[in-house]
Amino acid sequence: MTAPAPSPSFSDRPAATAVVGLQWGDEGKGKLVDLLAREHDAVVRYNGGANAGHSVVVKGTRYSLHLIPSGILYPGKAAIIGNGVVVDPWKLVEELETLATRGVDTSSLIVSNRAHAVLPYHKAEDALREDLLKRAATERTPSGADRPDAPAPVSEIGTTRRGIGPAYADKVQRASAVRMGDLLRPDVLRDRVRVALTLKQPLFAAHQAGQDLDVDAIVESGVAIGRRLAPMIRETTYALHDLLDSGKRVLFEGANGTLLDVDHGTYPYVTGSTVVTAGIGSGTGVPPGRVGRVLGVMKAYSTRVGAGPMPTELHDAVGDGIRTRGREFGTTTGRPRRVGWLDLVAVRYAAMVNGATGLALTMLDVLGGMDSVHVCTAYEIDGERTNRFPADAYDLARAKPVYATFEGFRLDPASCRTLSDLSPGARRYVAFIEETVGVPADIVSVGPDREQTMFR
Ligand code: IMP
Repeated sequence: MTAPAPSPSFSDRPAATAVVGLQWGDEGKGKLVDLLAREHDAVVRYNGGANAGHSVVVKGTRYSLHLIPSGILYPGKAAIIGNGVVVDPWKLVEELETLATRGVDTSSLIVSNRAHAVLPYHKAEDALREDLLKRAATERTPSGADRPDAPAPVSEIGTTRRGIGPAYADKVQRASAVRMGDLLRPDVLRDRVRVALTLKQPLFAAHQAGQDLDVDAIVESGVAIGRRLAPMIRETTYALHDLLDSGKRVLFEGANGTLLDVDHGTYPYVTGSTVVTAGIGSGTGVPPGRVGRVLGVMKAYSTRVGAGPMPTELHDAVGDGIRTRGREFGTTTGRPRRVGWLDLVAVRYAAMVNGATGLALTMLDVLGGMDSVHVCTAYEIDGERTNRFPADAYDLARAKPVYATFEGFRLDPASCRTLSDLSPGARRYVAFIEETVGVPADIVSVGPDREQTMFR
């Protein structure tokens, strides 16, 4: 196999770039977006909500962003929250205030009036559903429980409890949904909240939950927060097209990760949104043809937060070492992340589904100094070998990884400025990823700082 040709430079491409995670989130997209923001005029979120956690380190200061596009840290760039995002307006204000106290100018932020709002009852519902699922899983036996291969009953998803799933569910239910534009119309807001609580109260009441949820209080607080956000809530689809039509470069920042996509991920252990690049169309109104470059971000190993299958998961000291060196604890919830070897069956599938034109390989430094490194190149499922990613969590749960083994390699981030500075072993690892995925590694990152990045 030979390495694919490097992807052409920015100037040869249409004006829009997408950055999307090829695993289960936390691939280091925040740093990549921050780096690429330099060459773009606007940074846009199209999916997810405050479940995302993007960490960016600028001049030694770490910023954790959940809703606001990471591009906000660059003065003069437009930051746009598209209609596909579910926005917790109180969290948004909190984030704006935190950035303001650290001297970051947030005046360029605009939020789609079509984006749906996450309200207090969405978070209560998320938590209640998770608790009920957990309890119910212990009481249920799977159908066909006498068969040894019977799928385990769905337990809790392990959500971030940020109300993401219930807010997207209300969007599809329609009559009970509140869009950001509705926060500016008290009568509409009251009507929507009343409908939502009418529909949800029976569930809450049956489980003695959500007792503090009150229409008047939610509306009063929603109107106040709407007033605070009013200058930034507006139509964003035309705004984006106007930017593109005037030759501006736009960067789309995917939240979460492809394997958490509601259609293409490890269903049902997924998030509520379209994470893949196809979500840019529905989540912003910018058609796919305008996106010329798709940078698929992947860690040099795997991590996952929450429940669901992960074939290469490590439950030993090797995994603990990677977790510690990689500081694998959630930005949003602080939960320790599950850790495993790199799964190239999953990454190759994710690169395909997103149309990745380049890879950004992150956290390579974390693998430096290990005795050996393993990479999953195929699965064995029920005795059959395959390099195709299964359609759901039940098949994936039975997948046994087939590994390629690499000798350990040295990696000293301080001496890495260009890809040729990597040790031969590290270079072999990168080349193997490129060949197996069939996409060139445009960027390799060996640390959180902007400087610890190598470009092809
Ligand atoms: P939800 O998005 O809060 O509904 O959570 C659904 C699943 O996606 C859970 O397993 C979460 O841990 C996971 N998840 C959601 N957002 C992220 C993220 O940004 N990084 C990693 N995992 C995430």
